[in-house]
Amino acid sequence: MGTGLKRAMRPITHQLRLFSNRLLGIEPELEIDPAPFWGFSDKELRLLAPKIARTLMTVRMHNKPKTDERLNMHFIQMLIHPRQTWRNLRYTYRIGRRHRGLIETDFCSGLQDSAWLLYSIVRSVKPEVCVEIGSARGKSACCMGTALAENNKGKLFAIDPHRRTDWNDDYSVDTYEIMRANIDALNLGNYVEIIRKTSAEAAEAWSRSIDLLFIDGDHSYEGVKRDWDSFSPHVSPFGVVVFHDTIWDVDTESWSQYRRADMGVPRFVEELRQAGYPVITFPKDCGTSLVQPRIGGIPLSHASSSTALAQ
Ligand SMILES: C[S@@+](CC[C@H](N)C(=O)[O-])C[C@H]1O[C@@H](n2cnc3c(N)ncnc32)[C@H](O)[C@@H]1O
Repeated sequence: MGTGLKRAMRPITHQLRLFSNRLLGIEPELEIDPAPFWGFSDKELRLLAPKIARTLMTVRMHNKPKTDERLNMHFIQMLIHPRQTWRNLRYTYRIGRRHRGLIETDFCSGLQDSAWLLYSIVRSVKPEVCVEIGSARGKSACCMGTALAENNKGKLFAIDPHRRTDWNDDYSVDTYEIMRANIDALNLGNYVEIIRKTSAEAAEAWSRSIDLLFIDGDHSYEGVKRDWDSFSPHVSPFGVVVFHDTIWDVDTESWSQYRRADMGVPRFVEELRQAGYPVITFPKDCGTSLVQPRIGGIPLSHASSSTALAQ
């Protein structure tokens, strides 16, 4: 290669090295193939980039995207808007990594994919304060914590004594260290605070307003009622209470090996519904119900809802 050509290629070579180093730093398994771009100078590449990007986009729309196509696309975008694209890329990989962690961690939880309901509520509502009663190994806590981290604000207070109660799964009794490790592995320490107490103990000192309350602790009628009575008065006007295990009395066929005579969640939530609280139930994973703790719901006429918002 002549010295002139070498010199002309230096900026682009430098950019490629920089880019692949950064990429390898965050995602070591991935490799980028810079070969298609070696022949171009920086200037040529800038002129060609939109055309190449369009072609790649068409390829992506019509075929299953291949990793190297996607990465080359990022590379081209980076040449056009280096700072912007680098920020987007880093953000995308961070989110992807955490979600992969969430999916791959074995939380041994009956909540299953219904945990994403909690994630979605947190992502859309952007709550300041979330409270969960019953954490076990931390599936629901990590889903909510992930959403809070992506919101870049808010905190989840996760209440569980992490010792034997009437409502542990046999394989999830002493769960404090496991939950701590799961939170740390997902880097959620700033967003999830473990309160190692029963809900009754935690309620004694509780005074903050709550935007999202998840009840999944003591599933007896008395237990779930006590949690509602202690914490729902703290829920903010448009806040929501989510209950797990609400469908057992309707679906009497499924999950027969886990059925218990002292399960009181369905009866209690049904009583709330009959008393006029708005209840929406999703019949998956033993049932998840959303309740707004205002009898009749919040009127959506201008005057009434602005009063609720002002509270
Ligand atoms: C079904 S597990 C919770 C599952 C968890 N939400 C998840 O996503 O995997 C029930 C948990 O409630 C806890 N628990 C039982 N009684 C409780 C109480 N009075 N206060 C707080 N937590 C309680 C148990 O220790 C157990 O870890």
